[in-house]
Amino acid sequence: MNVRITGTGSSLPGKILTNADLEQLVDTSDDWITSRTGIKERRIAAEGEYTSTFAAEAARRAMAMAGVQPDEIDLIILSTVTPDFPFPSTACIVQDILGATNATAFDLSAACSGFIYGLSVAEKYLRSGAARKILVIGSETLSRIVDWQDRNTCVLFGDGAGAVVLEASDGGHSLLSTHTFSNGSFWNLLYQPGSGSRNPASDPRTFDKKLLYITMEGNDVFKHAVRSMEEAAVKALETNSLSPDDISLLIPHQANRRIIDATAKRLGVSSDRMFTNLELYGNTSSASIPIALDEANLQGRLKAGDKALLVAFGGGFTYGSALIEW
Ligand code: ACO
Repeated sequence: MNVRITGTGSSLPGKILTNADLEQLVDTSDDWITSRTGIKERRIAAEGEYTSTFAAEAARRAMAMAGVQPDEIDLIILSTVTPDFPFPSTACIVQDILGATNATAFDLSAACSGFIYGLSVAEKYLRSGAARKILVIGSETLSRIVDWQDRNTCVLFGDGAGAVVLEASDGGHSLLSTHTFSNGSFWNLLYQPGSGSRNPASDPRTFDKKLLYITMEGNDVFKHAVRSMEEAAVKALETNSLSPDDISLLIPHQANRRIIDATAKRLGVSSDRMFTNLELYGNTSSASIPIALDEANLQGRLKAGDKALLVAFGGGFTYGSALIEW
């Protein structure tokens, strides 16, 4: 059975926060941020904008491209680490906004790899015949869990959403494979300590000790990210009997320019076959790959028969890859 991507969509907040703006908030510089990360600006949600806001708009655009009506959707998988609420799932809120009355909806937690995990779950639903049309969404409002006084982290992240419609059909672009991996040994190198059951938001100490913010060991994360993304990419290539030369476009998680460059170098993929937009949006966690995929699609970067390799890494640690034939 063919599993196809029939529509892509994305949605970003209108508000732009530049490196120059950040210079006013913390002791940093455009030069430091650009040279260490490649990021020049990021989008920040305004008051009244939530993870569901961007998710629903990205989903609408993906459905419009696919020519699919909301009531045809069987399943909504929404990946996020910044849901509207701990419960109910943001996927259920998006279902309500869209009027996708026939869908089952749930959230998925795999940090920056969440979209690839979502593709992988959706693929299994479609191949088993349990669903025919699925929305996979990655959406984040990371600005709400970033400590805007911590220069180590606040320069890295941004808000937004991306989505795809996946169908068991003959039209569209074939999802050839997905692979997911987890390594829980390093869960505490990148996490949000507060708001769950260990440090509940209801305990005043959680707020006082700044536990509600993203905590990260940047150097360690960097090394694991490069090694793991290479492993996930190689798995996709081997499974499909392809070499790096067969890849037309590498679409990596947009965490950091240096992580992307190092991964591409290890794989032997030249920079002209690498898609990046992190200079404009920063790291949008699980939204980064579907936003990039939508932009690559709209910019005509993929032609019929091209192979696109999606590869992600994130907190957990989680990592994974997906191979698409355009
Ligand atoms: N502006 C100016 N100086 C800064 C800033 C900043 N925004 N942030 C840190 N510094 C300082 C540090 O305080 C340190 O100063 P010191 O030497 O006086 O102590 C100095 O810069 C160097 O700090 P390092 O942490 O060694 O800098 P590094 O070159 O490792 O870059 C970075 C830091 C960009 C976070 C890097 O480690 C990285 O990219 N790690 C990956 C983390 C990541 O991308 N996480 C996202 C989530 S995971 C994912 O999505 C894959």
